Amino acid sequence: MSKQNIVWHETTIKKEERQERNGHSSVILWFTGLSGAGKSTLANALEQQLFNSGKHSYVLDGDNVRHGLNKGLGFSDEDRKENIRRIGEVAKLFVDAGTIVCTAFISPFKEDRNRVRELVEDGEFIEVYVRCSLEACEQRDPKGLYKKARAGEIPEFTGISSPYEEPDAPELIIDSDKQTVEESVETIIAYLKERKIL
Ligand code: PPS
Repeated sequence: MSKQNIVWHETTIKKEERQERNGHSSVILWFTGLSGAGKSTLANALEQQLFNSGKHSYVLDGDNVRHGLNKGLGFSDEDRKENIRRIGEVAKLFVDAGTIVCTAFISPFKEDRNRVRELVEDGEFIEVYVRCSLEACEQRDPKGLYKKARAGEIPEFTGISSPYEEPDAPELIIDSDKQTVEESVETIIAYLKERKIL
């Protein structure tokens, strides 16, 4: 594409001013894991707690974002990459807006997740690996998708016919088949307090 006449315009109000007024830092809590691992459940439970205590938060969820912003993207490697790239940019805007944004996307590729990490400042990207064995996810099968994938009705299904790359060094690991949702939320809140984000 030829060079466009677009110039960055500094905003009047800075992220730091928003954070100060909100009384907490703004970060991305990036939940990653297999379908059915519990990403959305955990992101929503955490957000409920943050919201109840007056924090500025928001949840971006794979299924929901694919209804709007990312409508039209499928599940090929290329489309997943574009899905995560766009979400990364949106999440960065939320950080700039002084919000704690919880994102719940499978985000199966390390490279794509790391690219989002690099988009924001040090410490603003917190990778939360919602770890759960494929067997357990398949047994849960809350949407009946694994059954369909096994029957060959869903191509490129993560864990079955499309890969999931585990994070190498996530800030947090939540074993969703061993910890309750409440325990997991406590673990994350404790981490945020320890890091002085809250
Ligand atoms: S990705 O890989 O990050 O781009 O995926 P994401 O945007 O999080 O969307 C995952 C949800 O889409 C449903 N779904 C599939 N998942 C994986 N593979 C295939 N082929 C697929 N087709 C549909 C599924 O409901 C996922 O939701 P979760 O909440 O993860 O179960």
